[in-house]
Amino acid sequence: MPFPETRLRRLRRTGALRELVRETELSARRFVAPMFVASTGAPIDLMPGVSRLTVTQAVAEAGELTALGIPAVMLFGIPDEKDAEGSGAWDDEGVVQLATQAIKAAHPELLVITDVCLCEYTSHGHCGVLAPDGSVDNDASLDLLARTAASHARAGADVIAPSDMMDGRVGAIRAELDSEGFSDLPILAYAAKFASAFYGPFREAADSTPAFGDRCGYQLDSANGREALREVELDIAEGADIVLIKPALAYLDVIAAVRSATRLPVAAYNVSGEYAMVKAAAAIGAFDERAVVLETLTAIRRAGADIIITYHAKDAALWLAR
Ligand code: PBG
Repeated sequence: MPFPETRLRRLRRTGALRELVRETELSARRFVAPMFVASTGAPIDLMPGVSRLTVTQAVAEAGELTALGIPAVMLFGIPDEKDAEGSGAWDDEGVVQLATQAIKAAHPELLVITDVCLCEYTSHGHCGVLAPDGSVDNDASLDLLARTAASHARAGADVIAPSDMMDGRVGAIRAELDSEGFSDLPILAYAAKFASAFYGPFREAADSTPAFGDRCGYQLDSANGREALREVELDIAEGADIVLIKPALAYLDVIAAVRSATRLPVAAYNVSGEYAMVKAAAAIGAFDERAVVLETLTAIRRAGADIIITYHAKDAALWLAR
C-alpha cells in the first residue's frame, strides 16, 4: 500500500522509535586499534592523533584501549634496520615480538593481532623478497612470511594477520603454525587487499614506501570486485579464519559481496588515507568530526563488516560511551 496508507516517517518520529528500529549497531567491541611500535616514539604528521610508540608507551596505550572496551590491537613494527630479505620481521627480539609479550603480560585480556608482512622490514620496501629481475618473488617469500608468523606466535600473538598478498601465504602460514604447535591460533587474512593510494599516510608511519615501482604486481586492481571474491575463496580454502577487505570506504560494495559469499567473520580496514581525509576536513571546519566518524563506521558495519580496524577506534569508543 503506497501513500497515504504507508508513511515511513511514522517510525522516524522520535529518538526512541528510531532507536527501536535501527538496523545496525556500532560498538567499541567490534573495533581493532592499529598501533605502530618502534624503538623511539614520534607523532605521525600525516595522521594527527596517531604516533609511533615505544614498547612502554604501547603498553600504556593498550591499557587505555582496554578501559574503553576496545577488545583488540593490531601491531605494526618499524625496525631500526632493514635488509633485502626483511630479516627483522622474524627476529624473536624484534619490536613487534617485544611489544606483543609486554602487552600480553600487562593486559592479558586484550587481543594482540600482529600484521605479518615484509614491507616494513625490507630495504626496498616491497612486501616480499626480490627475484634477480627485480620482481617480487612469490614462492621465495612464503617461507619468510611463515617464519615471521611463527615468531609472532611464540611471542604470544592471539591472531596472525598476513597482509602481503603473496599467493599461497595463508596455507604456508597455517602449515608452519600447525607444525610449531600453534594449531589453535587463528589467521585473519587480508584476503582482498587492493593496490590503493589510500595507504599514503601509512607508508610515512611505517616507513614502507617501495623504493621503486609499486604494489600493483601483488595487490588487487581497484577495478576488480569479482577477482576480490576469488581471493577470498582461495584464502578460505587455505585456512583463513577471518577475511578482511581493505581499504573500506571505496570498497563497501566488496564488503557487501564478501559478506553474502561467506559465513566467515568479515573484517574491514578503515585505512590511513581515509583517516587523514576526515582529520583534514574536520580541521578546516568542513564538518563535525564526531558525526562523520560515527556515520562512516556505521556504514562499514552496515555493508557487512563484523570487525572494523580503524585509527578512529579510541575517539569513537569515547564518543559511543557518552
Ligand atoms: C603492509 C600494510 C599496509 C597497510 C597495512 N599493512 C601498507 C601497504 O600495503 O602499502 C596499510 C594500512 C593503512 O593504510 O592504514 N603491507
